[in-house]
Amino acid sequence: MSKPKVVVTRKWPVEVEARLKELYDVTLNESDVPMTADELKRALQTADALLPTVTDPITADVLRVENKRAGIIGNFGVGYNNIDIAAAREQGLTVTNTPDVLTDCTADIAMLLLLMSARRASQGERLVRSRRWTGWCPTQMLGQKVTGKTLGLIGLGRIAQAMAKKAHHGFGMNILFYTPRNPPPRQVVDDLGAVRCETIEDLLAQADFVSLHCPGSPENHHLINEQRLKRMRPSTHLINTARGDVVDNIALCKALKEGWIAGAGLDVFEGEPNVYPGLLELDNIALLPHLGSATEETRIAMGNRVIENISAFFAGREPGDKVV
Ligand code: DGY
Repeated sequence: MSKPKVVVTRKWPVEVEARLKELYDVTLNESDVPMTADELKRALQTADALLPTVTDPITADVLRVENKRAGIIGNFGVGYNNIDIAAAREQGLTVTNTPDVLTDCTADIAMLLLLMSARRASQGERLVRSRRWTGWCPTQMLGQKVTGKTLGLIGLGRIAQAMAKKAHHGFGMNILFYTPRNPPPRQVVDDLGAVRCETIEDLLAQADFVSLHCPGSPENHHLINEQRLKRMRPSTHLINTARGDVVDNIALCKALKEGWIAGAGLDVFEGEPNVYPGLLELDNIALLPHLGSATEETRIAMGNRVIENISAFFAGREPGDKVV
C-alpha cells in the first residue's frame, strides 16, 4: 500500500523529520522559507495532510481551494489562530494541535520574563555589554522583589496553571486568576492557593505581575487596552506569552513611557516578526523572539504529537488533539 503524502511547511527537528520520512511520502521544506498562499493551496490539492505551524496563515481562501486531496491539517503548535477554523469546518477538514508537550517550557519563559522585567535584566545586560558599567553601588538599577508578591493570571489553562505552580511553590507568590470559562477542578485551584477575580479589572487593580494566558481570537483582540493598563499600578509588570494582538501596543508604549506600569516582558507580538517600533525604544521592557516552546525536547515532542495525530487520522481513528 502506498504511504500517505504529507507536506511540512517549515523545517522541523531532524529526529522528527527522519520519522516522517520513514512513515510517509513526505515533502519537507529544506530552505525553511515560509510557503506562499499558492504553495499552501497546492499542498492541499496534492497531499493527504498539510502540516503547517503557527506562523502559516491558513486562511479561508487557502482552505477553499478547489479539488482538495488533504483531509487533515496537523498544526505544529498549541495555538491555532493561524487557521480559519470556521472555514476548515465548512470544508470538512480535520484540524489538530499540540497541547501539553509545551506547557512547562512556555510557563518557564513566562517566569523568565517576569523575573527579567522585575529585576531589569535586559537593561542590566545592555549596560554590561556597552562597557559603560562603572561598578556596584547601593542605588543602581533597583528593581522589584518577586518572592511573596501577587501574580494575576488572565486565563487559567494548562500554561497558566504551570506558571502558577512555579510562582506559588517556588517563589511563594499569591495567585489571582480571571477566567471567563469554568475554572479547573477545586483541588487544582486550592493547590495553587489561587483566588478567582470576578472581573479583569479587579485582577489588574490587585496584581503586582499580570500574565496573559488567553487564546488569540477576535474576542481577545486588544483585551489589554489603554483603559485596562490604567487600572494597573505604577509598580506592576505585564507579561505576555499568549498572542501579540491581545495587547494594544500603542497603549502599552504610553503606559511604559508615562509610568502607569513599571515594566513589561513580551515573547509574542502583533504582526510578528515585526515589532512595534515604539517598544524597541523603551528601557523598561524585556523582549524575546517567541521562544515559549523553543527547547529541543519540546520541539521534538511537538513534532511527534503531530505524527500521532495524523497517524490516528490515517488509521481511521479520532486524533487525540482534534480541534475540529
Ligand atoms: C504555540 O504552540 O502556540 C506557540 O506559540 C509556539 O511556541
